[in-house]
Amino acid sequence: MTTKNKDIIILGIETSCDDTSAAVIKNGILLSNITANQDVHKKYGGVVPELASRAHQANIIPVVDLALKEAGVNRTEVSAVAFTQGPGLLGSLLVGTSFSKGFALANDIPLLAVNHLQGHLSALFLKQAGDTHAVPQFPFITLLVSGGHTQIIIVRDFFEQEIIGETIDDAAGEAFDKCAKIMGLGYPGGPVVDKKAKIGNADAFKFSKPRIKNLDYSFSGLKTSFLYFVRDRVKENPNFVAENVNDLCASIQKTIIDILSDKLRLAIKQTGIKELAVAGGVSANSGLRSALLSLGQELDLQVYIPDFKYTTDNAAMIAITGYHKYLKQDFDGQDVTAQARLKM
Ligand code: KG4
Ligand code: ZN
Repeated sequence: MTTKNKDIIILGIETSCDDTSAAVIKNGILLSNITANQDVHKKYGGVVPELASRAHQANIIPVVDLALKEAGVNRTEVSAVAFTQGPGLLGSLLVGTSFSKGFALANDIPLLAVNHLQGHLSALFLKQAGDTHAVPQFPFITLLVSGGHTQIIIVRDFFEQEIIGETIDDAAGEAFDKCAKIMGLGYPGGPVVDKKAKIGNADAFKFSKPRIKNLDYSFSGLKTSFLYFVRDRVKENPNFVAENVNDLCASIQKTIIDILSDKLRLAIKQTGIKELAVAGGVSANSGLRSALLSLGQELDLQVYIPDFKYTTDNAAMIAITGYHKYLKQDFDGQDVTAQARLKM
């Protein structure tokens, strides 16, 4: 196997859940990022793993072709292929892993296995040509909020993190999705709740917050109390949800954001770190984004929020992580396997 070119060109592949994505990064600068979303899951109210892996199989080659074409890169110029090893749905991960192995073998280039969570963190460092936005300084605190994870992490370097708090049950994204489902709003619920919350009254309904002393989170109690609340109100008025949907969305969103912010405030007080970042799908939430900026003002912090398009799953974040692994010459062999439960 050879490590070609003076230019370092990384092809990134992400297939951990229901988005098939490919991206190209040249010398740390993003050239393309193509994602095929899978609409097939919408009618089932959640991701159906078997359908997801089939859709990945259908999408992966056209998505990679398009990413290379848009980047103006020939496949023979690629220095290494970075792919999501896990965590995620095994069948979906296998499609990206097998494709990447084949691509690396055919082009005689190294493989870079990337942890999906690490990818979300690295999205903060993504830059296209001409981008001048600031990037976090190590060490910084990140709130990692996705459909499967809710963690407060001290990031000391690219591959050096310490988790100081995490959910003991549901993730924040799951809380959004489950509450949306209770209101019959479809999947994924987060973006819909976000949109409706903008025109709702966040103080219309009160939901209690969990009482956990350390930096850990819990969201399953909130989901259950939301379920019972809605069920009881619907008994009195069958149109309750339809008549109050914006206020319900605004109120549940505010509660989730307050829970997230309270622990962050505590983490910052405990560590004294003044650099705060957010990553993962839920960081697309407009209410959370403004709450973090306010928290920054309140506690005199530098706050870093990824570009909206890199908050949810994408291959650009996998490619940039791969680029930093490449710089360390931290390659993986053809015997590398997909890991559904890979930890940070
Ligand atoms: O990071 P991600 O794309 O996939 C995982 O790795 O899980 O996160 C998906 C999660 C879903 O739960 C989705 O509802 C949530 O992110 N999400 C949002 C928003 N956009 C996506 N939650 C709240 N507000 C949003 N705007
Ligand atoms: Zn993700």
